[in-house]
Amino acid sequence: MSAYGPETTTNEVLDGADLGGRRFVITGASSGLGEEATRALASKGARVSMLARSREKSEAAAARIRASVPGAKLEIYDVDLADLASIRTFADKYVAEHDAIDVLINNAGVMCCPMSRTADGFEMQFGTNHLGHFLLTNRLMPAILRGDSPRIVNLSSGGHSICNVDLDDPNFESTEYDPWDSYGRSKTANVLFTVELARRLRDRGVLSFAVHPGMIMTELSRHLTEETMNLMLERTKSRQKKAGDSSGGGMSFKRVEAGAATQVWAATAPDLASHSGSYLGDCQLGVEGANPTHRGYESYALDPEAAKKLWALSEKMVGESFA
Ligand SMILES: NC(=O)c1ccc[n+]([C@@H]2O[C@H](COP(=O)([O-])OP(=O)(O)OC[C@H]3O[C@@H](n4cnc5c(N)ncnc54)[C@H](OP(=O)(O)O)[C@@H]3O)[C@@H](O)[C@H]2O)c1
Repeated sequence: MSAYGPETTTNEVLDGADLGGRRFVITGASSGLGEEATRALASKGARVSMLARSREKSEAAAARIRASVPGAKLEIYDVDLADLASIRTFADKYVAEHDAIDVLINNAGVMCCPMSRTADGFEMQFGTNHLGHFLLTNRLMPAILRGDSPRIVNLSSGGHSICNVDLDDPNFESTEYDPWDSYGRSKTANVLFTVELARRLRDRGVLSFAVHPGMIMTELSRHLTEETMNLMLERTKSRQKKAGDSSGGGMSFKRVEAGAATQVWAATAPDLASHSGSYLGDCQLGVEGANPTHRGYESYALDPEAAKKLWALSEKMVGESFA
């Protein structure tokens, strides 16, 4: 596979690439990994539609990108992934106004927030990270199907190894809320969604990948408290131990240019064409049971039967069926 690794950057992944004429849509483009991926793709001539919920933050991010990539082809759209009506309004207009999407990167995310609910009453992390992207992707599908070698990239996390989805109680109605379990469930859902997308779209020419970016200091940590931080460190160490990794080096942080590299690789690398439905980390294919802070994944996250069940539950929750 690739000669890349944990330190590979977005610029290295795209070295020599020409993305002129290709259209990318990316959620959560107003900060962190989304902003860096947007910058890197735009620097190679891609048209990038930046989706976020704060116009002010998106414009500030676009201004920073234009300062380093003069003439960057960027468009800004306001979408709140915690509000199904906002997603439907945006997607319908976007599909009507744009012929094709070549790559959709579902990058936005919220982590470890206190118990709260979306506009539609879903638990916030499952609702935003999974259900919002589930509806967005399916509503944008007519344009994706018209794309040139189209791909859908879903940002998951090594945090998927915290726990599996709970298909019986997705909104923490009968289970006590735990902010890390909630994040783990939502990030497992991102992988299962990838698996089912790959199966459903196999004969329609669309590829799908799940990505763990590594650990990167971004605004994702905005909800962390000393208590939740300590819980995370304990859980990470115990998962590393379980994976047989005694190096202690698994907690190292990446620069944002390296953190965004795996999603940019998933979105563009020709050598991934025969690996649709895969979990990726450190710009490499994932490895079952290996250290989840790098590219290790849990087998439950790629279970095709669970992926079908999650799709059916998600359709029921958003109140729409998709072919
Ligand atoms: N950083 C890491 O170490 C790490 C590790 C593993 C996985 N990831 C994954 O990588 C992805 C990107 O995270 P990041 O580190 O770049 O975090 P970030 O800097 O906090 O960026 C997250 C983006 O998502 C947006 N967002 C959150 N809720 C939204 C909503 N309801 N509607 C629309 N947009 C929303 C945020 O907008 P606002 O700023 O307006 O909220 C922001 O643009 C996430 O999916 C995350 O789970 C990150």
